[in-house]
Amino acid sequence: MPNHMMIDIRSVNLSYGTENEKKEILNNISFAIKPHSTCAIIGPSGCGKSSLLFLLAGLRQPDTGTIVIDGDPRCGTMLQNYGLFPWKTVVQNIGLGLILRKMNKEKIAEKVAVLIEEMGLTGFDDYFPSQLSGGMQQRVALARSLAIEPEILLMDEPLSSLDALTRERLQNLFLQIHKKKQMTSVIVTHSIEEAVFLGNTIVVLSERPARVLQIVDNPQAGDLSYRGQEHFYKRCNMLRNLLREDDNGEKT
Ligand SMILES: Nc1ncnc2c1ncn2[C@@H]1O[C@H](COP(=O)(O)OP(=O)(O)O)[C@@H](O)[C@H]1O
Ligand SMILES: [Mg+2]
Repeated sequence: MPNHMMIDIRSVNLSYGTENEKKEILNNISFAIKPHSTCAIIGPSGCGKSSLLFLLAGLRQPDTGTIVIDGDPRCGTMLQNYGLFPWKTVVQNIGLGLILRKMNKEKIAEKVAVLIEEMGLTGFDDYFPSQLSGGMQQRVALARSLAIEPEILLMDEPLSSLDALTRERLQNLFLQIHKKKQMTSVIVTHSIEEAVFLGNTIVVLSERPARVLQIVDNPQAGDLSYRGQEHFYKRCNMLRNLLREDDNGEKT
C-alpha cells in the first residue's frame, strides 16, 4: 500500500435489490486512511454512509472494487442505533465482547473496571441502561467497543441522539481515548461540526448514489481547542458550501 495506509478503499460500488430493480448506493468510492488517524465520513441522510461502514466492518461485500485493510486488526464497531442490552448491567454490557472471546473472568473484571473508570462511569457498575442518561449509555457503548482493544474503531453516528453539550463532552472524551489507545478511527456523522472536530481526514459524500465530493485534509482535528478557532469555522463553512452545492433540493 502506498505510504502505509491502514485502510484503503478502491473504486467501491454497491447496490441493493435485484438485477431488474437495482438501487445504486455507492458509486466509485475511493479513499485511504492512515494508521492512528481519524477519518470522518459525512454526507446527507440516506446517501449510503451506514452501508459504507458495513463494508469496512466486513459485514457486506461491495459489488465491485476492493477494501484493503492492513494486517489483521481487531475491529471494534458501534453500529447506528445498536443499543445496549437492556437486561444487562453496565459491567455486563461492557464485558460482552470479552465473554464472547472467552477471556477468563478475573481478567474481564479487571479490564471492565479500568474502562468504567476511564469513561467516568464509576459507581454505575450495576445500573441497567434504562437507569442511565443518553450520554452515559453512549459511554457504555463506547467502552464495550473499546474492551476488545480494537486497532480499528468504526462508529456510525455514535453521538447523534445527544444534546449539544453532552455531545461536545463526548467528542472530547473520544479524542482523548483515540490518542491514548493508538487506534485508527472512522466516524460516520451527518454533523458538519462533528466531522471537522473529529476527522483528520474528512470524506464528503454526495447524495445517493454516494460519490466522493471531496477528501478534506484536516490535520488540526484532535486538538481540543480547535472548536473555538477561526480556522474551525472556515472549514465548517467550506464543507457546508460543498454539501449545499450538491443538494438537489428534493428534500426539505
Ligand atoms: N439492506 C438494504 N436493502 C435495501 N436498501 C437498503 C438496505 N440498507 C439500506 N438501504 C437503503 O440504502 C440507502 C442508503 O442507506 P444508508 O447506508 O443507511 O444511508 P445513511 O447511513 O447515509 O443514512 C437508503 O436509501 C436505504 O433505504
Ligand atoms: Mg446511517
